[in-house]
Amino acid sequence: MVDLGFDGKVAIITGAGGGLGRSHALELARRGALVVVNDLGGSVDGTGSDTTAAQAVVDDITAAGGDAVANYDSVATPEGGRAIVQTALDRFGRIDILINNAGILRDASFKNMDPDKVGAVLDVHLRGAFNVTQPAWEQMRTQNYGRIVNTSSGAGLFGNFGQTNYGAAKMGLVGLTRVLAVEGAKNNVKVNAIAPVAKTRMTEDLLGPIADKLLPESVTPLVVFLVHEDCPVTGDVYSLGGGRVARVFVGVTKGIVDPGLTAETVRDRFGEIRDEEGYEVPTSMNDELRLALKALS
Ligand code: NAI
Repeated sequence: MVDLGFDGKVAIITGAGGGLGRSHALELARRGALVVVNDLGGSVDGTGSDTTAAQAVVDDITAAGGDAVANYDSVATPEGGRAIVQTALDRFGRIDILINNAGILRDASFKNMDPDKVGAVLDVHLRGAFNVTQPAWEQMRTQNYGRIVNTSSGAGLFGNFGQTNYGAAKMGLVGLTRVLAVEGAKNNVKVNAIAPVAKTRMTEDLLGPIADKLLPESVTPLVVFLVHEDCPVTGDVYSLGGGRVARVFVGVTKGIVDPGLTAETVRDRFGEIRDEEGYEVPTSMNDELRLALKALS
């Protein structure tokens, strides 16, 4: 089999100064991609800024014979998003790949959650993806080519104590992924999401003894495949870490149809409504509507 190569392809990776983003950047560059290494360089909670992290990754790529440029703008503002995309256009003239990876944590139980923690986390993860994707989208549509990966999390997909802000942002990214997959289809722009687990500065205190098995490098291979020209899917979500890769999907149970539905029928047939046997996985809202209409007819 021929290796998955990226010669001449231009990739933007946000938050690529460390952790998962750094791993994606190094591997894509090793495979021939021209890389924009974006990182604001702040702390895990998003405070501060520093250019050394992104520049160090660029230096590593250059030392290994690759080509990369650093960008230190924040994804959290529309101006920052535009500047990141402009860096790619100025240096390399196109954008084929965008990996929305930048992230911060401001955890608190919901009881103690406050608007600042909500705003900061939504701004980086969710609005950040909008801020960078929109200018990149324009370019990808013009090129009739694009590959985007959004970084979601099990905290949003499945729930995790103390992360209402983060979980909401991460599930919001799944909605963004699903809608962009629909909108990008006619221009060969494919958009998928990952929910990784890896030992990084963000998680090193949380993962316990298994941490050393969860290297960022074991998340990158799926990301490489999803941003390659050969990627066969769009709108998908994958859970992965330590070499395990699995698909996560939103399914709909067969449910029940009862034109005379009452609260008591719902109570009495609740097991049937929730029964996972025979579930379907709609590809879009229209597809779900089609299933509903089929059941009703
Ligand atoms: P990390 O802290 O090493 O990487 C995040 C990077 O984003 C940092 O280098 C940081 O400077 C950068 N960043 C933060 N705010 C930024 C901004 N406004 N603009 C530009 N860059 C900014 O942590 P990690 O684990 O590599 O996180 C990468 C992504 O993966 C995040 O979105 C995180 O939420 C997600 N994730 C990570 C998991 C894990 O197990 N490590 C689990 C689930 C999701």
